[in-house]
Amino acid sequence: MAKINTHFQKLSAHYLFPRIEKQVSLLKEKRPEAELIDFGIGDVSEPLAEGLVKALCASALEMGSKNTFKGYGPSQGYPFLREEIARHDYKGLGIHPDEIFISDGSKSDTANIHELFDQSSIVALPDPAYPVYVDATVMAGRSMGATSSGTYEGIHYLSCTEKNGFMPSPPASHTDLIYLCSPNNPTGVALPKELLQEWVRYAKKEKAVLLFDAAYEAYISSDAPHSIYEIEGAKDVAIEFRSYSKSSGFTGLRCAFTVIPKTLLLDSHSLHALWKRRSDTKFNGVSYIIQKAAAATYSSPCKEEIQAQITSYKKRTSLLMQGLQSLGYTIYGGKDAPYIWCKAPMGLSSWAFFDLLLQEAHIIAIPGSGFGPCGEGYVRFAAFKEEKIIEKSLKRFMNLSKKIENIQR
Ligand code: MLT
Repeated sequence: MAKINTHFQKLSAHYLFPRIEKQVSLLKEKRPEAELIDFGIGDVSEPLAEGLVKALCASALEMGSKNTFKGYGPSQGYPFLREEIARHDYKGLGIHPDEIFISDGSKSDTANIHELFDQSSIVALPDPAYPVYVDATVMAGRSMGATSSGTYEGIHYLSCTEKNGFMPSPPASHTDLIYLCSPNNPTGVALPKELLQEWVRYAKKEKAVLLFDAAYEAYISSDAPHSIYEIEGAKDVAIEFRSYSKSSGFTGLRCAFTVIPKTLLLDSHSLHALWKRRSDTKFNGVSYIIQKAAAATYSSPCKEEIQAQITSYKKRTSLLMQGLQSLGYTIYGGKDAPYIWCKAPMGLSSWAFFDLLLQEAHIIAIPGSGFGPCGEGYVRFAAFKEEKIIEKSLKRFMNLSKKIENIQR
């Protein structure tokens, strides 16, 4: 008899985002007239830059002509894109195009990377964290199951709280694989150079590997590093994940890349060689058309159009952040990422505040506890919406504040 992979049974029943969708559908059934403002899932709201659409159309036309048609491409991605990435994203950091792997998204890469490591590997991850890190760790059989406190046994949680500025520090004990996300999803906080230096030192000492997710680096305004490879020695201990989703509006197109330096060895085995072997076996690469669009993001006029979109998303984030602050909310993040980490008022739980926002203001947020126990008491707002929607939401927040004041009286 065939048997299922029992690691799946250790997962909590729902992935966070579908659970929220369900709650929202219930409200829509109850109040079909409600005009919802969605600060939930971090999806871009602007259409693709004109230069990108042109690149997509031109490469689609190439596929229709005998001389320029492309069949299977290299599993690692076309050299034309890997060269652009090395030249622009890793300028002066010594990353070679051959160390870059093009993929369909950082979600898949940050989950699939588990395949390279021994079953006994101890995984450390920030709490709160992007839920994919936890679920992928459980699916890979690196946890014994859920505990009553909402964590998973066997996973080492790195508490991120107000007290440490939501910045995870290296633990006193040994771990093997450490997920770091900077700027962070969900807290929006970017890790400073000194802390990343500590992490690289820790990884060297413990012979551990840092899994550095930099999907939101395009939003950094502070002097926080954009890449882990800005830290000396990181090429010996770190894998970096980057994505075009939030930097160039590719959430629907799908394109990302992962960097595995050739100097990253475990017991003299090259992780680069293992990932290459995996890609050759399991992947036929991202479509040519999409890779051509990704390559177009590095040249004018596309580059400037994309930069203007990011500037506009950052402006929207500031608008929401300042508005919430002026209403007395305690806010974190927002400066280096499109995410605002907001403390629930009146000591409400994350889900209670989520519910209050949904029912009373028709605003969708993400309950912080869905990202881990340390997220309890917070919600996350993804501030990609147009300015006029943000302004409208601030009026609703103001009315909600009045209602809260009345409750408190
Ligand atoms: C989020 O809302 O956390 C992200 O958009 C989800 C993702 O990137 O998969």
